[in-house]
Amino acid sequence: MSSERVVLVTGGNRGIGRAIAERFVRDGYRVAVTARSGEGPDGTLTVRADVTDSASLDAAFTEVEQQLGPVEVLVANAGITKDTLLLRMSEDDFDSVVATNLGGSFRVVKRASKGMLRARFGRIILISSVVGLYGSAGQANYAASKSALVGFARSITRELGGRGITANVVAPGFIETDMTAELPEETQAQYKANIPAGRFATADEVAGVVTWLAGDDAGYISGAVIPVDGGLGMGH
Ligand SMILES: NC(=O)c1ccc[n+]([C@@H]2O[C@H](COP(=O)([O-])OP(=O)(O)OC[C@H]3O[C@@H](n4cnc5c(N)ncnc54)[C@H](OP(=O)(O)O)[C@@H]3O)[C@@H](O)[C@H]2O)c1
Repeated sequence: MSSERVVLVTGGNRGIGRAIAERFVRDGYRVAVTARSGEGPDGTLTVRADVTDSASLDAAFTEVEQQLGPVEVLVANAGITKDTLLLRMSEDDFDSVVATNLGGSFRVVKRASKGMLRARFGRIILISSVVGLYGSAGQANYAASKSALVGFARSITRELGGRGITANVVAPGFIETDMTAELPEETQAQYKANIPAGRFATADEVAGVVTWLAGDDAGYISGAVIPVDGGLGMGH
């Protein structure tokens, strides 16, 4: 569906964020991406920002507002993993993952909500993960940061739902990106054996769900968790 709304995707220089940005460009949106390094795909405005740093985000939003207009669709995608077993997990391993995945989402949503409230329109889409609700050995920090996005989106829905703003969570399973390419082949095969679809997804399969949530057909969906996981997390 074609739209000229302004979209901002965090972490749009690679992986899932890049695929999401490409898809929005294809659908006619005016698209900006944040990147710490590199550039977003063709047709996007790239702005520098680190989601752990509010000042850099504020500057990035101001640039997007000046060049494209207020952000109407926000995709909080930037995220990291620092996997290790609980007993080996340092406070920094925990804090840095939470500060990026959860704190980063809070910072961008808070900044974007100002313009959305003024416009009485907004679509907030938070990229979580199947492991947020399923759990994952060696990912206590990551899973905690990703499940917290559900409570966050539902609270935003209760706070801002009456102002034309929706907030939803997309929970991808295993997607073919740098993050999963790092896994040993044996681990990848083990994961695939547990996924009813029998394969990992492409980043574009996540992007299609995100653009659908941003579109007019999804205007009455808010506080939802939409899995894109080939059935891996069913019932969680
Ligand atoms: N891949 C999967 O199977 C999978 C599954 C479920 C959920 N997810 C989630 O989907 C999202 C994207 O994952 P991906 O696989 O595409 O990851 P990726 O290829 O590792 O890319 C991560 C993106 O986040 C950005 N980023 C990380 N820390 C940042 C920070 N402090 N400030 C600004 N940007 C930052 C990175 O920017 P730089 O290039 O500058 O580092 C990069 O653009 C993440 O939230 C991830 O948790 C992924």
